[in-house]
Amino acid sequence: RGGPAADLVRRLTRWADDFPEPGVRFADLTPVFADPDGFRSVVDCLAALVPDADLVAGVDARGFLLGAGVATTLGTGVLAVRKRGKLPPPVITREYQLEYGTAALEVPATGVELTGRRVLLLDDVLATGGTLAAAADLFTSAGAQVVAAAVVLELEGLGGRSRQGDYPVTSIVTV
Ligand code: PRP
Ligand code: MG
Repeated sequence: RGGPAADLVRRLTRWADDFPEPGVRFADLTPVFADPDGFRSVVDCLAALVPDADLVAGVDARGFLLGAGVATTLGTGVLAVRKRGKLPPPVITREYQLEYGTAALEVPATGVELTGRRVLLLDDVLATGGTLAAAADLFTSAGAQVVAAAVVLELEGLGGRSRQGDYPVTSIVTV
């Protein structure tokens, strides 16, 4: 199921028990991105989802890598959705619950026109869904349209998909 990208993701993902907190099983996609076929096939797969997106956004931190690759393929710019405190003000902020603790995501409130943009939103993993939902909220509150959200790996059973808004959510592999 899912072609060469899905096969490589299943084969190369590194699972870490009790990281970063006891009881959490962490999916580390580092080996997928470090593999030439893995990175290329994942980027190609994500870029095919919304060929007419006009902005690709990647969530801090591994979403940056995906965003850069996909934006190059589509010929769009890339916007890094940052963790709290990394961008100078003014910023738009959304807090969210993590599988472990709370956090916040931010995008610039000035300098990048977001009104009316067609955003393809990317991250590495969908777990409880708080991260992706917060990132999507940032764009919709800024007047952009999230035309799709996509991740490489979806952890089914944590309810992440059901917490998403009115945009299609795609994952290359679901486990
Ligand atoms: C991980 C992962 C996703 C998020 C998914 O990031 O990279 O961004 O968790 O979890 P959720 O669906 O329950 O919100 P993390 O916050 O660990 O930070 P990192 O990307 O900087 O490693
Ligand atoms: Mg993350």
